[in-house]
Amino acid sequence: MLGYVTLISLIASGIVGHSAATQEWWKDSFIYQIYPRSFKDSNGDGIGDLNGITSKLDHLAQLNVSAFWISPIFVSPMVDFGYDIANFTNIDPIFGSLTDFELLVKKAKSLNLKVILDFVPNHSSDKHPWFEKSIKRIKPYDNYYVWKDGKIVNGVRQPPNNWISVFRNSAWTWNEQRKQYYLHHFTSAQPDLNYRSAELNEEMKNVLTFWTNRGVDGFRIDAIILAFEDSRFPDEPVIPNTGLPSNDYNTLRHIYTQHQNETYQLVQSWRKHLDTQPGSKKILMTESYSGLKELTESMKYYQYGSDVPFNFMLITDLNNHSKAIDFKRSIDKWINNIPKGDYQANWVVDNHDNRRVTSRFGVKRADQMTMIAAILPGIGVIYNGNEIGMEDTWLSWNETVDPVGCVAGPIDYQFTSRDPARTPFQWDNSTSAGFSTSNKTWLRVNPNYRTLNLAAQKSVSFSHYTITKKLIALKTSNLMINSTTEVILVGENVLGIVRRKSKNSLFVLLINFLDTPITIDAMSWMNIPEIMSVYVSSLETKIPAGTKVNTSKLLLSGAASIIITNYSYNYLQ
Ligand code: GLC
Repeated sequence: MLGYVTLISLIASGIVGHSAATQEWWKDSFIYQIYPRSFKDSNGDGIGDLNGITSKLDHLAQLNVSAFWISPIFVSPMVDFGYDIANFTNIDPIFGSLTDFELLVKKAKSLNLKVILDFVPNHSSDKHPWFEKSIKRIKPYDNYYVWKDGKIVNGVRQPPNNWISVFRNSAWTWNEQRKQYYLHHFTSAQPDLNYRSAELNEEMKNVLTFWTNRGVDGFRIDAIILAFEDSRFPDEPVIPNTGLPSNDYNTLRHIYTQHQNETYQLVQSWRKHLDTQPGSKKILMTESYSGLKELTESMKYYQYGSDVPFNFMLITDLNNHSKAIDFKRSIDKWINNIPKGDYQANWVVDNHDNRRVTSRFGVKRADQMTMIAAILPGIGVIYNGNEIGMEDTWLSWNETVDPVGCVAGPIDYQFTSRDPARTPFQWDNSTSAGFSTSNKTWLRVNPNYRTLNLAAQKSVSFSHYTITKKLIALKTSNLMINSTTEVILVGENVLGIVRRKSKNSLFVLLINFLDTPITIDAMSWMNIPEIMSVYVSSLETKIPAGTKVNTSKLLLSGAASIIITNYSYNYLQ
């Protein structure tokens, strides 16, 4: 019988992998998010670009992710760093050209990587020619945006209702030329598009086709929940006693601006449209920041054609104060609420809008969330830098560029700015962490790059990188397919997740939520074999793969996280 080490190398080499290409190529895989400004700069201007990404695709292939999604690369005045688009079908010169994009897709295909673009349908830039024509009431553009007359109260003009922008303050801005207010759920430079216009609908479908014709395998749909508003435009109810300033988005219950019925229909229309496109089946991933509170609304996107309605529970519902039971509740709740049918769970570990895992859960727990995403059934989604345990970069008020940070002012910016998680990827210990040849980059490189970088982590056997690689290999192997999933509390402080195919073939994740050591009887609590082997452990835990452990008296060090198994070569036949 071949030994345990062979099992690991078989998984890692991909020999034990998905047997046949399924239509839904994303099943049980990891998808990797690239923030293009910060991934790799090829021309020395201090900002990442497409050629930079292309030059680093080998890294993603080595990680063995199935796909990568790229935050917006389209023509943009960059008020919201690309999420304000002035031309949906061309590349911003900062990032390159359509020819560069063609080369990127070609390289990705050669490496068997799928390409997913960020589709931002809720709004455009105020510099989009459509908006300029809309202001002038030129048909059909006059109706491409959401315009409303003001309300006159005591002779003073006021916005049509009390709606607040996600980024604070009124969601309405007066336009002197058109003499109406326009709606914007984000900055005033991002006017909301109006999907009650048939022509606009058609334009946006054409945008999808434009990119699928260029080899794109699917889309991440930005801020989808805000696509439609109640056409009566009523005030939203104020939540009493939030303790928040009255211009804060979270002071209102968004019953008239989020998850309207037409929004679901819209997603479905895109699903149908994409299903008619040639080539690979196109993935749709929808961004709905509803967490567990609005689970029903989130889950509904599955039934309207979203393959991955982002599950943000690891970001919005859990943090370093959460206990084992909080994790169990959240995981069970998500899994148990997936509608019946052929739908996959998903686990978003991090992204460009939130603090990095190392801040949210602590440096010691850097690998834990990816471990959870790896062992649970379905898709894992990770953000560039996660694989090396990158940390948030402290930036001063003067260095802050994110509109969400800027609107908060010199004191509060540190609680809201998204810049700290967006600093350049740390490739090696050369100038600007190997991100750029320039030592001036659009956001400052984290000074820890001299030791915390990919090259350093590749050169040692125990690093966040080697751990992440193994976790991705485990998910994409077929070893857990058709396994049951049990989320078990092993006492108060240890979370266990068992993926069981049979008594003799299982993988088990154990996480110690205490920062002090604990000895557990995992064998009895989880009904698992007494002697098992370590498949992978977190950097903090550092138990070599293949180490035999006695699960009846298992010593877990503080903050430990390990995946153990009883698979042997026999079970791989
Ligand atoms: C999404 C994006 C975020 C952007 C916003 C407006 O939430 O992830 O970065 O600012 O939409 O497009």
